[in-house]
Amino acid sequence: MFHKNTYITRRNELKGKMSSGLILFQGNSEASFNYPDNTYHFRQDSNFLYFFGLDHPDMTAVIDIDSGEEILFGDDVDMDDIIWMGPQPLMKDKAGEVGVSKSMPISKLKELISEAISKGRKIHFLPPYRGDNVLLLTQLLDKTADAVKQGASQELIRAVVSLRIHKDEEEVKEIEYAMDIAYEMHTTAMKMAMPGVVEREIAGKIEGIAHSMGNGVSFPIILSINGQTLHNHYHGNVLRKGRMMVTDAGAESLLHYASDITRTVPVGGKFDNRQKQIYEIVLKANTEAIKAVKPGKTNRDSHLYAAEIIASGLKDLGIMKGSITDAVQEGAHALFFPHGLGHHMGLDVHDMEGLGENFIGYDENITRSNQFGLAFLRFGKEYEPGHVFTVEPGLYFIPALIDLWKSENKLSEFINYDAVEKYKDFGGIRIEDDVLVTKDGYRVLGKPIPKTITEIEETMNA
Ligand code: GLY
Ligand code: MN
Repeated sequence: MFHKNTYITRRNELKGKMSSGLILFQGNSEASFNYPDNTYHFRQDSNFLYFFGLDHPDMTAVIDIDSGEEILFGDDVDMDDIIWMGPQPLMKDKAGEVGVSKSMPISKLKELISEAISKGRKIHFLPPYRGDNVLLLTQLLDKTADAVKQGASQELIRAVVSLRIHKDEEEVKEIEYAMDIAYEMHTTAMKMAMPGVVEREIAGKIEGIAHSMGNGVSFPIILSINGQTLHNHYHGNVLRKGRMMVTDAGAESLLHYASDITRTVPVGGKFDNRQKQIYEIVLKANTEAIKAVKPGKTNRDSHLYAAEIIASGLKDLGIMKGSITDAVQEGAHALFFPHGLGHHMGLDVHDMEGLGENFIGYDENITRSNQFGLAFLRFGKEYEPGHVFTVEPGLYFIPALIDLWKSENKLSEFINYDAVEKYKDFGGIRIEDDVLVTKDGYRVLGKPIPKTITEIEETMNA
């Protein structure tokens, strides 16, 4: 973990942003997969990690905003636990590691919360997303599960977002380590993308890299020769020439900071002409959108800029037509680019989205559109120094969506449906990098991962 002063400072800043009452931070417990004792790889809650740093299950923390007191709740292990799990630090030592002076058994939590409620004090908590944490809140607060889900504190959400959204130097270093892992994962995947290989052989190999260098993957690996399905987790296809393989994969550093990178490569290591044409459009959208990053500009504008580049490239190929400005304004490009340009990234790969996407990506100046395509943009607001986010334009030929739009003759003033038909067997391309907003511009994080056609062909044929 970071030095304990990091966590003390974060908690003090949080207290300074809150009015009064108690803040309840729930850590995660182990989660079962096929029977109770067979559990998933443990993942601590990211807010708990941010403020308390402790990567152990079954802890809850309370901060008294008015008195400043902090208490860590959890139970010391007994001899049975030690026999199975080995020696574990005492709760008071765990608390001390992160600068919390008081620890108490979990059985005392209910007493403390009930007393606060009886005095009319506000209990602030973040939106719970795990069943056992919802259950604990129903017991502590004497509320139904629905009331608990509706009852998260907006004041706390806003305060947490305002802190976590700006990454400091030590956090950026962690993200860059996660990028080092991603570099190994993606260059390995590129070299393996040869005809006859099954997708799962590559997905398994790169997941192993994530585990061997860090804390495993930051989200389930997306790897497919059917990249037109945006989040394709099926890894059973045999690679064949003529297809492009999309690999959207990232890792967690040892402190759980994420990377999230996408590369698309031609199976066999050589782009054909059609692949080159489409690839260059997406590459330009990626690189130009990155160059547009600067404090004060908005990610919504970068998204629309990338959409214009895609529409204009498709117009050059005869797939789109008419005014590019009008086409993008009407959302015609979304037939081929139906998702957002990117999202914040940090302790969560989609950072803090569990607190409510619009709290992270939008504000009173920039609100979310409801137009197909633009509606999926998770981050629209102004860039600020310290933001870390993804830039991930894509271009896809999704047969079912093409058929639907064509049957409706939708936006046919901008789309040449006869030309589109010829690309229905193409698949999709996405190119994603992770970017830090600096004082006067941007920095693409991590060692550059091959991205141009020449770099990719050289890597695959090395
Ligand atoms: N890397 C997957 C996503 O951004 O949704
Ligand atoms: Mn992403």
